[in-house]
Amino acid sequence: MKVAIVGTGYVGLVSGACLADLGHSVVCIDTDERKIAKLLQGIMPIYEKDLEELVARNVGAGRLSFTTSFAVGIPGAEVVSIAVGTPSAPDGSVDMQFVDAAAKAIGENLTGYAIIADKSTVPVGTSERVVEIIKSVTQQDFDVVSNPEFLREGTSVQDFMKPTRIIIGSGSARAIETMRSLYAPIDCAKLVMDARSAELAKYACNSFLAVKISFINEVAHLCEMIGADVDAVAEGMGSDPRIGKDFLRAGPGWGGGCFPKDVKAFIKLGAEHGHPMPVTNSAQAMNRLARSRIVERLKAELGGLSGKKIGVLGVAYKGGTDDTRESPAIDIIRECVEGGAEVTVYDQEARVVPEIHGFEVAHDDSPYEAANGAEALVVATEWEEFKVLDLEKLKQAMAGNLIMDARNLLDKEAAEKSGFRYMRVGKR
Ligand SMILES: NC(=O)c1ccc[n+]([C@@H]2O[C@H](COP(=O)([O-])OP(=O)(O)OC[C@H]3O[C@@H](n4cnc5c(N)ncnc54)[C@H](O)[C@@H]3O)[C@@H](O)[C@H]2O)c1
Repeated sequence: MKVAIVGTGYVGLVSGACLADLGHSVVCIDTDERKIAKLLQGIMPIYEKDLEELVARNVGAGRLSFTTSFAVGIPGAEVVSIAVGTPSAPDGSVDMQFVDAAAKAIGENLTGYAIIADKSTVPVGTSERVVEIIKSVTQQDFDVVSNPEFLREGTSVQDFMKPTRIIIGSGSARAIETMRSLYAPIDCAKLVMDARSAELAKYACNSFLAVKISFINEVAHLCEMIGADVDAVAEGMGSDPRIGKDFLRAGPGWGGGCFPKDVKAFIKLGAEHGHPMPVTNSAQAMNRLARSRIVERLKAELGGLSGKKIGVLGVAYKGGTDDTRESPAIDIIRECVEGGAEVTVYDQEARVVPEIHGFEVAHDDSPYEAANGAEALVVATEWEEFKVLDLEKLKQAMAGNLIMDARNLLDKEAAEKSGFRYMRVGKR
């Protein structure tokens, strides 16, 4: 099947490469010329496990190509996926400018019937909005389908290839049939529903997961105060299949390019319809608390931050990605810097970029260098390599002996045996 993907970011690039690997002929379009130039040279614009090899294999087989031209990518495509960004507008609603521009450019370049499948996370009613935009610029026949994407950064290729379900939101039998064929090689439930429910399902899903993380963080803070162990509590909860074990890891809260903006959009959607959304609002408040509590505990333990040398391991919002959008690590680093600490950070893929994050900080090339001379070390991102740190070497590098493990990654006994004062989330 001929497929065009509009927007070649985390979702577009991974979806395009995976669909090509399933045998489709895929063109990925992006308005970012530098990104497309890089991809044409085989350079990945993002870090994602298995992606480089997947892209190279499918480009080599002639099934995957990249362009900035809609006139090259759209004509003849049977399915056109929209995978552009849908960031938050200043008032918390969704900034639709990229979706609108993509829909217009697609419409202007249609040469026959096509299905426009929206993969971007978009407000309820967007399918109808996209229909109107495309209709205003073309006489061609088309259908619009809501096809929300559930992949996670860090495991996106695997998530795309082995999803738990694929949602097809449409009332058109022809479009549903084509979408079923597109995903035929993927063995999972294909849930067909109306477009509005499909659009809402994505927001409800991300907001529910955010609520679940915020809930366990609320429990974690209570554990610290009353002397219980959050891992044990989470095990006790998660063993109940009605609750489930996933998303019960206490830490510095949720971040990334999706949860924060999707939670905001979900709350905004409620407000627009006169619903106060108390559950989701509380999850958001708890998320702010989870980040600042890490710094508060550190501050209390160090007797203030001013003049203190602190090493921070991790910048990305989670392990396995270079994405720093709404990263708890960034907020922790920022609060330490603003509190007057001298901070050095290490992350194998992500960096603090002054133009993006609004502050500057020193980076080092290894965890041990970042720890050098530090009075305290904060583990802020759950990279695998931090689980196997040489604690003796770390201790020798540091001037002090405090570890604030915001991800509960290290082995408590081993850390204490190496002479550390070891603090973690959800344990006194
Ligand atoms: N990142 C994730 O893990 C994830 C998971 C599921 C869903 N989503 C949703 O998917 C959408 C895309 O997210 P992302 O993380 O891939 O974003 P991204 O910022 O990584 O990529 C978006 C891409 O779209 C391009 N673009 C913008 N306007 C365009 C236009 N008019 N024509 C062509 N290209 C254009 C940008 O240059 C950019 O490369 C969002 O709605 C997001 O909420 C993201």
